[in-house]
Amino acid sequence: MKILLVGSGGREHALALGLKADPEVSELHCAPGNPGIAHLATTHILDIADNEAIVALARELDVDLVVIGPELPLVNGVADLLRAIGIATFGPSKAAAQLEGSKNFAKEVMRDAGVATAQSVTCTTRVEIEHALDKFGAPYVVKDDGLAGGKGVVVTSNREEALQHALACSCVVIEEFLEGPEVSLFGISDGKTIVAMQPAQDFKRAHDGDQGLNTGGMGAYSPLAWAPSDIVEQTHREVLAPMVAEMAARGTPFVGLLYAGLALTNVGIRVIEFNVRFGDPETQVLIPRLKTPLASLLYKAATRNLEGEKLQWSEDCAVTVVLAANGYPSAPQKVASIELLPQVADTYIFHAGAGRILSATGLGHDLTEARDRAYRAISQIDAPGTFYRTDIALNASVAEKGD
Ligand code: AMP
Ligand code: GLY
Repeated sequence: MKILLVGSGGREHALALGLKADPEVSELHCAPGNPGIAHLATTHILDIADNEAIVALARELDVDLVVIGPELPLVNGVADLLRAIGIATFGPSKAAAQLEGSKNFAKEVMRDAGVATAQSVTCTTRVEIEHALDKFGAPYVVKDDGLAGGKGVVVTSNREEALQHALACSCVVIEEFLEGPEVSLFGISDGKTIVAMQPAQDFKRAHDGDQGLNTGGMGAYSPLAWAPSDIVEQTHREVLAPMVAEMAARGTPFVGLLYAGLALTNVGIRVIEFNVRFGDPETQVLIPRLKTPLASLLYKAATRNLEGEKLQWSEDCAVTVVLAANGYPSAPQKVASIELLPQVADTYIFHAGAGRILSATGLGHDLTEARDRAYRAISQIDAPGTFYRTDIALNASVAEKGD
C-alpha cells in the first residue's frame, strides 16, 4: 500500500512511525513533514492550506490512501476533493469536519444525538454575552465559535477577562463550567462503525500545576489507571456511536478520527469538545502502544470496512513531554535548530514545529518507568530558549506507587 500523510507535527511523526511499521505499507510519503519524519518517509514540500496542491500530490504519487493529520485541510474540504477522484481518504468531509470547525454546530449535533455536554448559549451581541455570563456564573467558559488551534477558549473567574475575550469573537459559545478530570478518547470511524481507542490524558495549560494559558497540549499519558474500568465501552455507547449515527442520519457520515474531549463529572461523562483528527500530543502516547497495524486500520476506515474490528494494545504505559519555545503559546520565540542525541531503547523523540518543538515519549512497565524515560530524554536535550512542564503524569505516577 502507498500512503500519503499530510502534516508536519509531532502527531504526524508518531503516525508516520505507526504507518511505517505496518508490513502492508510499501511506500510512505509525507507532506510537508519535518526532519524527524524524513527518516521514515519521503517528504514533499506542501502548503497544507492549498487543497489543490494536496490533491495534485496524491494523484501524482498515485497513492492508495491519504491520511490527513491537521484540522485545517479537513475543514477546508480536502477529503471531499480526494474522494471525488477515487482516492481512499482517512479524514472527514468538509461538512463532517464542522464538528471541530464550529463549536455551535457540535452542540447542535450533540443535542440531536442525545449526547451529554455542558449547557451553553451561542452569542453574537454584547447583551447576549453579558446575559450568558451571568446565567452560568464563575468560573466562566468562553469559546470562540471558529477554529483556534486549541487557543480560542478562555476559562476564568474574572468576569472582565471573560467579557473581553467574548467581545473579541464574532460568534462565541458561553457555557457551564464542568468539574472533573479530563480525558481524551478517540474513535476511528468508517461512517457507520466506530472503534474506540484507549483513553489518554492531555495537559492543556502551559505551566506546572495547570498554570498559564491553554495550549495545544504540553504532555500526555496513557493508559489511565484511575479512570472507571468501563470508560471505553461507556464512551462508545454514550458518545461515539450516537455521534456517528447522527452524522450518518444527516447525510454527512463521519469518516476519520473523532476525538472526544471529556470531563468525568460526578453526574457522568460530559463532552467538552470534539476534534476531527488525532490529538497532539495524545497520539505520541497512543501510537507507540497500539499493536494493531495502523495503515490497514486506517485503510479499513477509509473504505467503510471496520465492522468487527478490535484493537490490540501493548500492556506498556506511555508518557510524553512536550518541549516548547519560550513564549508559547502567545508569542513563541524562534529557537535555533536542536542537536538530537542518538535514540535510546523505549524512548521516542517526535519532531514538531515552531511553537511546540518536539516531544519525548517514554514507554515502561508502569507510568513511573515511562515518565522517568521521557524526562531523562528531554532533560538531555540542549535547547536554549525552550521550556517543558515537569509535572506531566506526576500525580498518576505517585498514585500508582501508593497502590
Ligand atoms: P476546548 O478547546 O473546548 O477543548 O477547551 C480547551 C480547554 O478548556 C479544555 O481542555 C478544558 O480544560 C477547558 N474547558 C473547555 N470547556 C470547559 C467547560 N465547559 N468546563 C470546564 N473546562 C472547560
Ligand atoms: N491535545 C489537544 C488537541 O490535539 O487538540
